[in-house]
Amino acid sequence: MSLSEKYKHAAMSLQMVQPFESSRHVGWKSPSNIALVKYWGKREPQIPQNPSMSFTLSNSFTETSIEYSFYDKSGPKIHFTFEGKNESAFKKRIERFLESIIEYIPFVKQLELKIESVNSFPHSSGIASSASGMSAMALCLVSIENQLFGTLRNKSEFFEKASFLARLGSGSAARSVYGGFVVWGKHERLADTSDEVAVKVHVPGKDMWELGDAILITSSEKKKVSSSAGHDLMDHHPYAEARYEQAREHVPYLLEAMEANRDELFIRVVENEALSLHALMVNSNPGFSLMNNNTWSIVEKVRDFRKDTGIFMAFTLDAGPNVHLIYRKKDKVQIKKFIEEKIIQFCENGYWIDDEMGGGPVELN
Ligand code: DP6
Repeated sequence: MSLSEKYKHAAMSLQMVQPFESSRHVGWKSPSNIALVKYWGKREPQIPQNPSMSFTLSNSFTETSIEYSFYDKSGPKIHFTFEGKNESAFKKRIERFLESIIEYIPFVKQLELKIESVNSFPHSSGIASSASGMSAMALCLVSIENQLFGTLRNKSEFFEKASFLARLGSGSAARSVYGGFVVWGKHERLADTSDEVAVKVHVPGKDMWELGDAILITSSEKKKVSSSAGHDLMDHHPYAEARYEQAREHVPYLLEAMEANRDELFIRVVENEALSLHALMVNSNPGFSLMNNNTWSIVEKVRDFRKDTGIFMAFTLDAGPNVHLIYRKKDKVQIKKFIEEKIIQFCENGYWIDDEMGGGPVELN
């Protein structure tokens, strides 16, 4: 049975909320993640065309809290504020998200939800917030289910449903419900992997792979082309099949590189993933480019510095012009010096975010 069938079946006993008097509260702080092997291309219903692998961040997160009360008409009735303000575009996205998952959490129709969300990173920093935002929202919803019905007391079942729902809000959000390294998307050689939910992967020699992520902001402008539009362009992309195959090969390569401490392989895969993603954008139809001159300058500086010093570091990119510089936490002092001396001139107003691998979402009281 697929997870979608399992949750639809389970939802039959989640239809009727026993009326309750005063309002109740749930809240989650959920981090963003950075993909090392990229998800780019999907099919209905939000199924990835290839497996992806990321690590979860620590300092870039969304905090969402929901005060909910019993609603005796046909709901859900939603109020939404982002950083204290009514944001109608975000509210619409949340409403669409709830509609798309209502069959798995039908009880929300009998609820009035007051949702408040804040990000740790500036809204206009060019950092995508869908992974942290949608995962925080999904975690809150499964917490409500648990409070009302007690159905998700088992921790692994709780996070599995959160990942499943988060995925339907934004694919990359499925990976944010776990800390450390996470894989989303079925891979025949990796046990337990699934297209419907993300799974945590255990990496031996963990200390070596405690990673930092310096997020170098080269532009905070709104993207010309959204990720959703980019995913759609993969449908008729001439290199689509080759790309999906490449990603399928890259996931086990990366795990092998980490298991055997093969730094050169790790760097090759991670940087190739970033450049493949952007090459796919450039030669899609219509083509577009999200990298700018400063992005390229940073790429060159990273390559030169690595060659000169031998320090482990790799660049990667999201669907945008900002560079994520991945390094070992033990090298942080040298990396900071490198950024201050060679990189900061390419960052918009000298802005960068000092982030690192984190342990995953935290429940708020
Ligand atoms: C380049 O998860 O933002 O960051 O599922 O349409 O919400 P939707 O897309 P989204 O795509 C992320 C694309 C990426 C790579 C990745 O995170 O794997």
